[in-house]
Amino acid sequence: MGVPSFLWWSVPPLLCLLLNLAELCNGGITSSFVRKVEKTIDMPLHSDVFRAPPHYNAPQQVHITQGDHVGKAVIVSWVTMNGPGSDTVVYWSENSKQKNKAKGMVTTYKFHNYTSGYIHHCTIMNLKFNTKYYYEVGIGRTARTFWFITPPQVGPDVPYTFGLMGDLGQSYDSNTTLTHYELNPTKGKAVLFVGDLSYADNYDYNNVRWDTWGRFVERIAAYQPWIWTAGNHEIDFAPELGETQPFKPYTHRYPVPYKASKSSSPLWYSIKRASAYIIVLSSYSAYGKYTPQNTWLEEELPKVNRRETPWLIVLMHSPWYNSYNYHFMEGETMRVMYEPWFVKYKVDVVFAGHVHAYERSERVSNIAYNIINGNCHPVSDQSAPVYITIGDGGNLEGLTASMTEPQPKYSAFREASFGHAIFDIKNRTHAYYSWHRNQDGYAVQADSLWFYNRFWHPVDDSTSAR
Ligand SMILES: *[C@@H]1O[C@H](CO)[C@@H](O)[C@H](O)[C@H]1NC(C)=O
Ligand SMILES: *[C@@H]1O[C@H](CO)[C@@H](O)[C@H](O)[C@H]1NC(C)=O
Ligand SMILES: *[C@@H]1O[C@H](CO)[C@@H](O)[C@H](O)[C@H]1NC(C)=O
Ligand SMILES: [Fe+2]
Repeated sequence: MGVPSFLWWSVPPLLCLLLNLAELCNGGITSSFVRKVEKTIDMPLHSDVFRAPPHYNAPQQVHITQGDHVGKAVIVSWVTMNGPGSDTVVYWSENSKQKNKAKGMVTTYKFHNYTSGYIHHCTIMNLKFNTKYYYEVGIGRTARTFWFITPPQVGPDVPYTFGLMGDLGQSYDSNTTLTHYELNPTKGKAVLFVGDLSYADNYDYNNVRWDTWGRFVERIAAYQPWIWTAGNHEIDFAPELGETQPFKPYTHRYPVPYKASKSSSPLWYSIKRASAYIIVLSSYSAYGKYTPQNTWLEEELPKVNRRETPWLIVLMHSPWYNSYNYHFMEGETMRVMYEPWFVKYKVDVVFAGHVHAYERSERVSNIAYNIINGNCHPVSDQSAPVYITIGDGGNLEGLTASMTEPQPKYSAFREASFGHAIFDIKNRTHAYYSWHRNQDGYAVQADSLWFYNRFWHPVDDSTSAR
């Protein structure tokens, strides 16, 4: 445990420096927060949050995501259980009576002995920026109405607030995470989701748990876009059941606008939103030299114009810097491939999940090693991203509590608690980041940091420089 930050102001500067050095040598803060240890239990099938909407063939599992590269389109998805129903979305802007229609498509899939409902996807395009739209699905039978607000036009000084969640699952703790995100006084406008959605694979791949998850998150996902990342629980590779097409339930249910960024796969893509450029990578697709993902990323990074989108954010599932014992070094091979690029292009922050706990790194890189020189150590690097593990959504597998000791230097803060985070972009130079643990009141920040943009204001923003 380091010195609580409120004490710094009362400590003379020299002592402060000494304490700072001592803290760096010992690594960062391992939180001393004492949590009641309880089992993480999934909500039973009859839970209120899984209830299907009333009436015949009513649309359920409604969710939206960004539908193009800049935020002028939205993909609306929903499921009908009794029949295909209408694949039309009716939508109108808050200040207009004019109703518009967009026609979508419907798909189904089988997984072993499970047959999905009718899964609808409809992209509505040419929306105005910064506008509230209402939309209706289930036209002609049991219509349900929702709304969303489009982001402001892409630009360098556009404030925007992202929520962050990962490894959510559908336990009572998952429900608490969603509630804390909803009731956080800093309101997230879009969710950056770092993978591992339903954990249906933990039920012998019973895809009914994909449906319950869709109904569970509808209360947020129908009203603000979730930017999806694929995790290992999306792979659903089950040759013992004859299921050998990876990501089948996930890709049928959660479309993303990958073609808009010239990607050849929904598992990796990019979007711009307000002042952020968001790159989503797949930890579970080939990423070595000459693979489609590698080629795409190599061509993608030079396209990021920091004069247009100052904030460069990367999402992936498996973290590169993880000082918990669980999933230790699983992200290592991808780190070896891509970390030099992240430093070269000055990525601001990398969010990952997978490890069911919370951790934030210093700005470090480990790119000097070349197999002969032995220089394989993370070193402080102001061109490097901060790495944040936010796989603490609350799924049934429970918390990861076992940490490597001593805490490595690169690790600034770690704690095994469930929660969510907020990345609140103020302008081209400043973003305020906070992590919120589920045990606290909605406004409490268990960890926080001012991020200084790596392109516009690349001064030290690490814990020790605070
Ligand atoms: C489907 O298959 C699973 C796994 O083999 C089995 O446990 C389950 O009972 C089956 N369900 C139905 C409805 O046949
Ligand atoms: C989930 O959380 C919501 C909102 O707090 C609450 O209304 C609901 O009863 C909870 N459901 C379960 C099963 O805990
Ligand atoms: C950017 O935001 C920060 C934090 O709110 C503020 O201190 C700073 O003055 C802002 N910069 C400009 C140029 O407005
Ligand atoms: Fe995972």
